Amino acid sequence: MVVQLACGALEGVDAFRVDLEVDHTRKGVPSFVMVGLAEGAVRESRERVLKALQNSGFRIPPGRITVNLAPADRRKEGSAYDLPLALGLLAAAGILPPEKIGGWFFAAELSLDGRLKPVPGVLPLAILARNEKARGIIVAPENAAEAGIVEGVQAYAPQTLGEAAAFLDGRAELEPSRSAPPALDDPFPLDFSDVKGQERAKRAIEIAAAGAHNILLVGPPGSGKTMLARRIPGILPPLLFDEALEVTKIYSVARLLSGGLVRQRPFRAPHHSDSSVAIIGGGVPPHPGEVSLAHRGVLFLDELPEFQRAALEVLRQPLEQGSVSISRSSYAVTYPADFMLVAAMNPCPCGYSTDPRHECTCSANAIARYRARLSGPLLDRIDLHIEVPAVSYDELRAQQGGPSSREMRERVLRARRVQARRYAGTPFRTNADLGGAMLSECCRLGRSEQDFLGKAVDALALSARAYTRILRVARTIADLEGEKDISLPHIAEAVGCRALDRGQA
Ligand SMILES: Nc1ncnc2c1ncn2[C@@H]1O[C@H](COP(=O)(O)OP(=O)(O)OP(=O)(O)O)[C@@H](O)[C@H]1O
Ligand SMILES: [Mg+2]
Ligand SMILES: [Zn+2]
Repeated sequence: MVVQLACGALEGVDAFRVDLEVDHTRKGVPSFVMVGLAEGAVRESRERVLKALQNSGFRIPPGRITVNLAPADRRKEGSAYDLPLALGLLAAAGILPPEKIGGWFFAAELSLDGRLKPVPGVLPLAILARNEKARGIIVAPENAAEAGIVEGVQAYAPQTLGEAAAFLDGRAELEPSRSAPPALDDPFPLDFSDVKGQERAKRAIEIAAAGAHNILLVGPPGSGKTMLARRIPGILPPLLFDEALEVTKIYSVARLLSGGLVRQRPFRAPHHSDSSVAIIGGGVPPHPGEVSLAHRGVLFLDELPEFQRAALEVLRQPLEQGSVSISRSSYAVTYPADFMLVAAMNPCPCGYSTDPRHECTCSANAIARYRARLSGPLLDRIDLHIEVPAVSYDELRAQQGGPSSREMRERVLRARRVQARRYAGTPFRTNADLGGAMLSECCRLGRSEQDFLGKAVDALALSARAYTRILRVARTIADLEGEKDISLPHIAEAVGCRALDRGQA
């Protein structure tokens, strides 16, 4: 008899429907054939499933077994097919009535002793089940919270294959799992009030967060660059539910999800020795990289000049498009990768050229070579460069904590609302996106502002790109002040946020 079950396969961070057909015929030489582009892991599923059935006390009568995964022309990686395959065999062999499995979705691996084991991507699979109006989705207990995020489909999590069969057959009861309704505004654990002094750096960070600008922090060792960077997600607007879902799908596919919805903006800090696959994603089977794990949050690149040039080059696509496409001989996949880039570096190889308390041992040549490691195109995507000066222990002790993350975030939110109103109905969301005609329209300058900026450009020998960046940042500063027009102080402060251009750092 032929039976059909519904399951899903991942493509990027979404799932598509896969129909698993099982045919069991008692006549002929016993055999087990799988067709339909089943990749390595899927093929191994056969051994696991047969053992799991046996160890759960089921006996499949000998016969010819054919398993087909449709559509045949799409890649179907993974081990989420164990459970449907086992249940399909039970139904095809007449042990479970086929109508009891119709309309359900299944996504779990099986251990040899018949327990259900978690699989990556349950969130997109549960969304697929909901969209397909499934009766419910059956997952492993470890995936219950994740599947329970999705409204409009019931998720059940039996412990074992035997329990799953009994539940579907109506011989056992299971409670559907529900994740708690999302509270997306949990306080961020790190607060800016911990950072003493550094008012200018904090102000620049607030501007960056307000306009979604990328930012580079330049300063000697121990000046607090890492400390500042780690606090940035806490002043960004709270995640909207749809954004949280996007982020959670990425973590689900990357097997990094513990529990339900991701509620906070991510902060990812890959090391400069990480491979470009780790940073950008890829591998077999494909998995999202750091740029995608930072989606809707912050990607922090500490010691920027130490990163491999190749790794920095590949950042260009996500920085421009908010997503990353990876193609290998066996697949092509696109993952979301829309993040705020925060980078940090020392001003020179020894680190101390801007620290009055330490002597810098670097030659002018060495400093120039160090700076030259930052590729122009990458630097071009960074609107603000800010100096983070060394602060002495005594100064630190005397300093006040300054503004808290809450105060900073309130101002950021206000500036974001101004931008949302201005860009309604346009492809832009924030000042950092601004380009083309819209840039000149939203950043129109008066006569004296034009003169001032002209002089700054000449004096600092700024490029046309730097000029645009200054305009965008000035727009954000005006938005923070709630002003319609960009005025001189806004321009002056924006020029001050180009430390590398000024050659001061
Ligand atoms: N402004 C500050 N307020 C309070 N503590 C500070 C401040 N600056 C530095 N510190 C303390 O110094 C430690 C080192 O700071 P941090 O690691 O952020 O420096 P860094 O600039 O990233 O240095 P490196 O260049 O070595 O990476 C922090 O963990 C913190 O305890
Ligand atoms: Mg650091
Ligand atoms: Zn030095």
